[in-house]
Amino acid sequence: MDKAIIVNEQKTLLVIAHAPSANTEQMLQAVLSGANHPDIDGVNVQFIAPLDVKAEDIKSAHGLIIGTTENLAYMAGLIKDVFDRCYYDCLDHTQGLPFTFYIRAGNDGTGTRRAISSITTGLRWKLVQEPLVCRGEFSADFVSQCEELGMAMSAGLEAGVF
Ligand SMILES: Cc1cc2nc3c(=O)[nH]c(=O)nc-3n(C[C@H](O)[C@H](O)[C@H](O)COP(=O)(O)O)c2cc1C
Repeated sequence: MDKAIIVNEQKTLLVIAHAPSANTEQMLQAVLSGANHPDIDGVNVQFIAPLDVKAEDIKSAHGLIIGTTENLAYMAGLIKDVFDRCYYDCLDHTQGLPFTFYIRAGNDGTGTRRAISSITTGLRWKLVQEPLVCRGEFSADFVSQCEELGMAMSAGLEAGVF
């Protein structure tokens, strides 16, 4: 008698985020909490701090969330460093990678959004979720928006809609 083969295709959602303050740490934890929602069991959520990220981590991910502060009208240096180190190793191997990003900006966020959009266009990654720009005075809404962002990415990956 044939045995049924159950293939448990676990997908990896990689989160790379710079969280230098209590507020940004709260946002990161909310993203991870949303991505790890108990109803989503087909996704392995992996957080790697920017300095520890290697191109292989991105190449083996099925989806990606990037989190950054805006500093001097640009993404945080540590996030830029990830792109600097991994860009060419990823270029021919991560086209179509579903991703999104969130930005914590004191009052703007435009330059960071533009820069990430430009670099990821070069990489041909696929923006599957509207980026979140949390600007101005810190608000509890940012935390719930981050949680929703994480959950939406994770649920989308599990459902295979990206
Ligand atoms: C050196 C420095 C430069 C900054 N530059 C910008 C900027 O260009 N645009 C902006 O919106 N916020 C800027 N900020 C504010 C940070 O984005 C904000 O403080 C950071 O995201 C942490 O958020 P929190 O204060 O809620 O913890 C800057 C902060 C620092 C320390």
